[in-house]
Amino acid sequence: MKNINFINFEELPSTNTYALTNIDNLSDKTVIVANIQKRGKGRLGRVWISDNPENLYFTIVLKSPKNLKVKLPFVNPTQYMAVIICETLESYGVKPQIKWPNDVLVDGKKISGILAEAFIKADDLPRIVLGVGVNLNSTPEEIEKIDQKATSLNLELNKKIDKKLFLDKLLENFFEKYDEFLLQGFPLIKEDYIQRSPFIGKEVTISSLNSNFNAVAESILDDGSLRIKIGDEFKNLNAGDLTLI
Ligand code: BTN
Repeated sequence: MKNINFINFEELPSTNTYALTNIDNLSDKTVIVANIQKRGKGRLGRVWISDNPENLYFTIVLKSPKNLKVKLPFVNPTQYMAVIICETLESYGVKPQIKWPNDVLVDGKKISGILAEAFIKADDLPRIVLGVGVNLNSTPEEIEKIDQKATSLNLELNKKIDKKLFLDKLLENFFEKYDEFLLQGFPLIKEDYIQRSPFIGKEVTISSLNSNFNAVAESILDDGSLRIKIGDEFKNLNAGDLTLI
């Protein structure tokens, strides 16, 4: 792949932490891969168990090009990544779904998680690190240890998955449309995203950092936010966690 730098590690605390700490010295589109992580980070302060070297743990460094109208943190790169992961999984014959904002599930069970972290200094161009974990070759015992319903591609297909091949496919797909995505933002992938979002129109429980409430997930807006209805009131959400009721 052109213009893509890879840095491979046997072990890191976290590929996201490495990318954030070294962001000044890492060029746009650098991919950091670790075989295992000692402190893998999940969304909302959770831990991402990362001790199986046959599973995938990587982070892409993304820096806004200077002439970009829409700046990076606002163009939903995690949602773009969720669609790309779905397309990659579909090429293996499974039917993934997206749970807003960016969990990827197969058969209602989580197979991949995405964690974006931003590095924003005043007067500087936005940079983000986009971290991805995909369960490619977990054992049933490892899946049991995860604190939510989870699965792994090998268990869905009953065969070992070639990690390098999966990563190559995923990155090729990601970078093929990435420049266009930067120009257009979420509308470029809105249809692809909605098509894989089974919770739209359904009643869900929404958990945010300090509250839990029920609402109807009405629609996804052009900026990637979730429009919900609570009683007679509408609200647009930018963050949170959904559970189908
Ligand atoms: C989630 O909770 O759904 C997000 C999980 C993100 C895990 C990946 S693994 C590679 C990268 N490094 C981390 O520490 N976390 C992300």
